[in-house]
Parts: sequence; structure tokens; C-alpha cells
Amino acid sequence: KDEPIISPSLLACDWSDMKGEIKKCLDAGCPWLHVDVFDGVFLDSPNALTFGPQMVGSIRKRFADPVLDVHLCVDRPQRYARPMADAGATRIIFQWEAMGDGNDGGDELDDALSSAIAFAKDITSLGMACGVSINPETDVATIFPLLDTGMLDLVDVLAVEPGFGGQQFNHVAIQKIESLRQYRDQSLSPRGIDLKILVDGGVNNSTSSVVTDAGADILVAGTALFRHPRGFEAAVKELR
Ligand code: DX5
Ligand code: ZN
Repeated sequence: KDEPIISPSLLACDWSDMKGEIKKCLDAGCPWLHVDVFDGVFLDSPNALTFGPQMVGSIRKRFADPVLDVHLCVDRPQRYARPMADAGATRIIFQWEAMGDGNDGGDELDDALSSAIAFAKDITSLGMACGVSINPETDVATIFPLLDTGMLDLVDVLAVEPGFGGQQFNHVAIQKIESLRQYRDQSLSPRGIDLKILVDGGVNNSTSSVVTDAGADILVAGTALFRHPRGFEAAVKELR
């Protein structure tokens, strides 16, 4: 089995030194960066307000190569596809729970699925890769019809409620990772797309092994890396 990719979440870094923090990531062999875009509306907290396309653009201008995964936890995420593409995002990871029109009447799941499909089409036609993220309380089977379209190459399994770093790992994520592996391995996954399984939230030294055993390909980690007492590089080594 391949070693999982460690993807630092910039949410936990020193925002006054974004350039220096990203250099640390690259120097430690982590060229796969996770950018949490929160608007304080979808997440309904004034503290959950983070980065926008301008930040992504500045990072891209300075660093041509890293993968920039933009995790969109915002109200009306569709508005951000083009600005993020122009800014140089590699991939949009949208939140499944933000899909649908929120109106009563009609089938909610159908609504969510058709808006997710339309959004994935937008994202990929703008030249970005597309992933979907699910909250801890969302059943993983709900997104299989979306994955069946073959437009997505990544699933972000949230092991915390999105909004803050440093929360405790919720083990519901483990079963979801296993189900996603099954989905992929039974080649139910269409068009031979290499579906990557990412786990996001609460990943640290004590939770990482169960996550990798379950079969995650990418580990997002914020607090465990940027707030490690012995520094970033030591933290990456420990996690590896
Ligand atoms: C959850 C975010 C994560 C977060 C993880 O709100 O989507 O990306 O930064 O942070 P840690 O690793 O501190 O749990
Ligand atoms: Zn995230």
C-alpha cells in the first residue's frame, strides 16, 4: 500500500507569515496544501471566517507547483468556482450539505444531487479537479450517485464538524473510509477514475494509524503539524 499523502491545513498556520509557513510545508515534503474557505454564514459562526480567492491567488503567484485544494464551506459555493479557477486553485472540494435549493417540496436528495452534478460540471469545465466533502452525520452512501458520474476524483471525509481546528476525531469517519474503498475496489467507480479518499479533522499521532489502516490516501492535518511543540518538520516525521 502506498504511503498516505500528508496535506497540511493552512487554517492552523501563522497567517501573518503565510509564505514562510508554506515554505515549511514544501521543505518537509508536503506539496499538497489544504485551504479551508469558510464564510461564517454557511457555518453560522463569526469566528469561522477565513480565506478567499485573493489569498489563493497570492499563494499561487508565489508558489507555482503545490496542489491547492480549496475546501469550500460557504453559502452559495457556486459563486466561487470561477474566481477560484482564476486564482489558480487545483481542486474545489465542495460541501455536500450546501447543495440543493433548501426549498420544501420535491425530493431534497434529488435536489442536492442535481445541484451537485451541475456544480461539478462547472468546476471541471473550468479546468479544476473536483471533490466532495461530507459532514460526520452524513451517510456516505448518499454521495455514491454523485461519484457514479465520474466527475469527481476525491472525497473529503470530515472527522469533525467543519469550522475549527483542534477538534477531537470522530470515529464515524473510519467506516466511511472503508465503504469508500469498497465502492472504489468493486470498480463501481466509473471511467476508471482514481478516486482519492481524504480524511479531514482531528488527525494526529494517535488517530493517524487507524485512518491509514482503514485506507485513507490523504491525511489533512492542521493543529498536529503547525502547533507541534517540536516544530513542523518533526511533526511530519512523526505522522509519517
Ligand atoms: C475542519 C477543517 C479542517 C481543519 C483540520 O474545520 O475542514 O481542514 O483545518 O484541522 P485539525 O487538523 O486541527 O483538526
Ligand atoms: Zn477542510
